[in-house]
Amino acid sequence: MTARLIDGRELANRRIEKVREAIAARGDAGLRPPGLAVVLVGADPASRVYVRNKRRACERAGIASSDYDLPADTSREELLALVRELNENPAVDGILVQLPLPVHIDQDEVVNTIAPDKDVDGFHVANVGRLALRQPGLRPCTPKGIMTILRDAGIDPKGMDCLVVGASNHVGRPLMLELLLAGATVTCCHKFTKDLRFHVERAEIMVVAVGKPNLIPGEWVRPGAVVIDVGINRREDGTLCGDVAFESASERAGMITPVPGGVGPMTVATLMENTLESAVERLPMPTPAQ
Ligand code: GUN
Repeated sequence: MTARLIDGRELANRRIEKVREAIAARGDAGLRPPGLAVVLVGADPASRVYVRNKRRACERAGIASSDYDLPADTSREELLALVRELNENPAVDGILVQLPLPVHIDQDEVVNTIAPDKDVDGFHVANVGRLALRQPGLRPCTPKGIMTILRDAGIDPKGMDCLVVGASNHVGRPLMLELLLAGATVTCCHKFTKDLRFHVERAEIMVVAVGKPNLIPGEWVRPGAVVIDVGINRREDGTLCGDVAFESASERAGMITPVPGGVGPMTVATLMENTLESAVERLPMPTPAQ
């Protein structure tokens, strides 16, 4: 079998276009564009690339992004003061603090200082708790983007054997909650898992988010499985690859996401959707007069 390739870039473009249309319609009704504050502390090269992609997507979607590029020696107090100021700013619908933060700043404290209804990353304890308790609010972008990929591909995870490899706060854990909410039977493998191959061979849908090239050999993949690769790793020659051995996995999977061009663009598109969602909650469209 040769897997169908899932084009995350094309889907992300369609989703951003939908956001742009909704924002234009809101503009016609006299509403201001959604505002997203993007905060970058320090100059981590990968973070700079991610932030640049997010700011470009804002331009395409018609979202007003405001840039806060702070030096690496910004203090905890200065960053918390900025977050509190943005919480109070009525022109800001979403606040994104790019992670990781420099080690002298407690990431959890910063994320949990963001007002939950402006937390467009969906990382605040209140938003992850809401997802866990089946009352979703703003949802983490990568897991939500993966659910959009599955829906667009016509896959309903209800009752399916789903495997999440990687138990990170930002991808693995909230993705388990998303899949559970969708009625899947969910297994999570992590660094203490004894027999990763056993679980991979059983999975009808497998999502891998670890950050290790070739962690999953193609020979382990269940024939016909849906394979979603969240890993972004740089090879010695500078090219990017995921966590799954792509060539051999493509021989067995039913569908597979490439790296790059799979999940990454959908994370950014989902951030645009969350920012619009936050603006709609704050400033609903006026209902036409009766
Ligand atoms: N660092 C890597 N991915 C992300 C993300 O989705 N959001 C934030 N805020 N930081 C990140």
